[in-house]
Amino acid sequence: MQASPEAPGSGPEIALEVEEISVRFGGLQALQDVSLEVPAGTVCGLVGPNGAGKTTLFDVITGLLEPDRGRVRVGGVDVTSLPAHRRAKMGLSRTFQRLELFWSLSAGDNVKVGVEASRARRRGGSAHPDDAAHPESTARMLMDRVGLGDLAEAAVDCLTTGSARLVELARALAVQPRIILLDEPGSGLDSAERAVLADLLRDLAASGTAVLLVEHDVDLVMRTCEHVTVLDFGKVIASGTPHEVRSSPAVQAAYLGSSEASR
Ligand SMILES: Nc1ncnc2c1ncn2[C@@H]1O[C@H](COP(=O)(O)OP(=O)(O)O)[C@@H](O)[C@H]1O
Ligand SMILES: [Mg+2]
Repeated sequence: MQASPEAPGSGPEIALEVEEISVRFGGLQALQDVSLEVPAGTVCGLVGPNGAGKTTLFDVITGLLEPDRGRVRVGGVDVTSLPAHRRAKMGLSRTFQRLELFWSLSAGDNVKVGVEASRARRRGGSAHPDDAAHPESTARMLMDRVGLGDLAEAAVDCLTTGSARLVELARALAVQPRIILLDEPGSGLDSAERAVLADLLRDLAASGTAVLLVEHDVDLVMRTCEHVTVLDFGKVIASGTPHEVRSSPAVQAAYLGSSEASR
């Protein structure tokens, strides 16, 4: 999907907006007044030490978890009280930090399930031009796109973690998302797979998709992200270009104070 043309005098379309989100789990303040924006056609990073609240924020954005306070907007529409499937229908897609695949199916069939599910979801709504293609060939095209064209027949439980993550990414792309949230997609990937991932993220942004990337690989973040938000203990401690946040004393202190410093 292409980004909408910019209205004269306005900035780029904000695909995803998170405003002052707070979440408490019992005695733990997992998120406190977290705000961020992801413009259409950009890759933005969400980083921070383990336990900072990154996955919790993804759960709030996708509708798996209700925040105590704050709003989530998709394409300017307030979705805070909408269930997850309605948000998915609006073009919100994600991958999970812990892989969520159909382990008894082949890699290609995992992606095909995604293609079929997204078509079923659209039925009755606006058709997509790609719907004329056979689900099998769309799945094959998505496997090629993540660099796994040769592994369509492979059982996913025989794949390396890196390849399995890329299968999950291909499936997340099956819905032709406007916004995609990726939770540590680089973990377990070898350097060749990381290069494919970096190219893919840039391609997605170039085609108008908004990407929010949670990633520990500093190099991948530096190479792909336009803007980065840093969380620590549930709060935003820095926000800016990758270079700005990397040189922020608060960010350096947060990483030095955590076991992540050695990663
Ligand atoms: N369902 C939950 N119940 C209680 N505590 C949780 C729950 N989910 C996450 N947490 C806690 O919230 C904090 C943030 O977790 P998480 O969002 O997974 O961090 P990150 O993804 O940045 O590593 C952690 O201290 C974690 O233990
Ligand atoms: Mg996490």
